Amino acid sequence: MRVLSNGYTLRKVGLDCISSLANLHKSAFQRGWGAHDFALFLQDKHMRLTGAFPSKRHDPAGFLLLRVVADEAEVISLAVSRRHRRKGLGAGLMDMAIDELYDEGVKTLHLEVDEKNRAAVRLYEQLGFDIVGERKAYYPSDKGSAGNNALIMQLAIADE
Ligand SMILES: CC(C)(COP(=O)(O)OP(=O)(O)OC[C@H]1O[C@@H](n2cnc3c(N)ncnc32)[C@H](O)[C@@H]1OP(=O)(O)O)[C@@H](O)C(=O)NCCC(=O)NCCS
Repeated sequence: MRVLSNGYTLRKVGLDCISSLANLHKSAFQRGWGAHDFALFLQDKHMRLTGAFPSKRHDPAGFLLLRVVADEAEVISLAVSRRHRRKGLGAGLMDMAIDELYDEGVKTLHLEVDEKNRAAVRLYEQLGFDIVGERKAYYPSDKGSAGNNALIMQLAIADE
């Protein structure tokens, strides 16, 4: 658990949060996950779900979902609800996760991000991630045109 200087608390989420996490995910991504998906993540020993909470009684304002297998970890999803953005929650969730992964001896953290997602790319660059690859037209387009490319980004945690 970690408390940010602006009062938000970062902590593991439980089953009581899955509906609000599903709503948050749907509001941030085109293909939203349901509460059932989040319930399955909570049962998966390789998945880690952390939320950012404005206070004890509030629903999560953001979350980070990681998959950790052996000495590698992957960001599966990260989202912050619109009215809580630019308050350091995305960076705070990632920072806490990176510190925990470092303590566990995990060596690399990787992710895929839409190259047009300026906010997320900036956030990951600021955290020290490097672009190590690209997947062409990875994100499906609704209009039949070629989809956006995905950047593959990686952080060498052992060097942090
Ligand atoms: C990407 C996202 C998680 C960032 O969350 P956030 O809590 O607003 O980010 P933070 O406040 O921690 O910002 C940290 C840094 O990221 C960068 N950043 C964040 N939002 C940005 C924006 N809209 N434009 C440019 N840079 C941005 C900045 O470098 C920022 O540092 P600064 O505020 O000191 O300038 C959030 O915009 C979001 O949920 N987007 C929709 C879902 C998504 O795209 N998830 C990522 C999928 S890979």
